[in-house]
Amino acid sequence: MSNTPDHTSDDEPENADFETCDFGVEDVAEIAQLFRDAIRVTAAGAYSPEQLAAWAGSADDEDAFAAALNAGWVRVAVDDVGIVGFAQINMPGHIAMLYTAPRVARRGVATLLLDDMLVLGEAMGATKITVDASIVGRPLFAHFGFVEECEELVERHGISFKRYRMQRSMKRPRK
Ligand SMILES: CC(C)(COP(=O)(O)OP(=O)(O)OC[C@H]1O[C@@H](n2cnc3c(N)ncnc32)[C@H](O)[C@@H]1OP(=O)(O)O)[C@@H](O)C(=O)NCCC(=O)NCCS
Repeated sequence: MSNTPDHTSDDEPENADFETCDFGVEDVAEIAQLFRDAIRVTAAGAYSPEQLAAWAGSADDEDAFAAALNAGWVRVAVDDVGIVGFAQINMPGHIAMLYTAPRVARRGVATLLLDDMLVLGEAMGATKITVDASIVGRPLFAHFGFVEECEELVERHGISFKRYRMQRSMKRPRK
């Protein structure tokens, strides 16, 4: 008998349960709910209740939220239950949104979406990809080779938020 631990059922990559595709207008309500859940649950430890409410509230006007999604290229990640994440990149290579459903946190969904964002950025001809990362998003982007440029304070609905301007050169390999 081998001393190697039996990983026969764990050999697939952790994100093999998910795939990504372009978003459609019929997805807006589901994406808006995922956006609110990701903020209220996953970002809960990093921001105050007032900040979380102001941030999550930006999806309450579904028409405005749909218009914001349509301003860039949006990819969604799905499993056999539904949408588990989404990300948006705007010209000329700015990642404007990246959100994962709390039920699949830390299972590689954002990694899959971020890889799509980098492919799209490359297709846009971007020489660098930028993001204004949240406190929660910062370690993920650092993990992907994004370099922090500065800390920023932005105001949304009269409430200020800390975030981090980060960028990644497209000259480096994607992963
Ligand atoms: C940030 C977010 C999208 C990450 O989604 P995710 O699907 O859980 O991320 P992944 O599983 O792909 O993480 C990949 C790697 O990034 C890093 N990472 C991701 N989330 C992290 C966290 N909360 N703390 C530390 N490292 C983290 C880790 O290195 C992780 O690899 P590991 O799990 O093997 O250690 C998700 O937490 C989220 O939706 N947060 C709330 C909304 C938000 O802040 N979005 C970012 C806006 S810029």
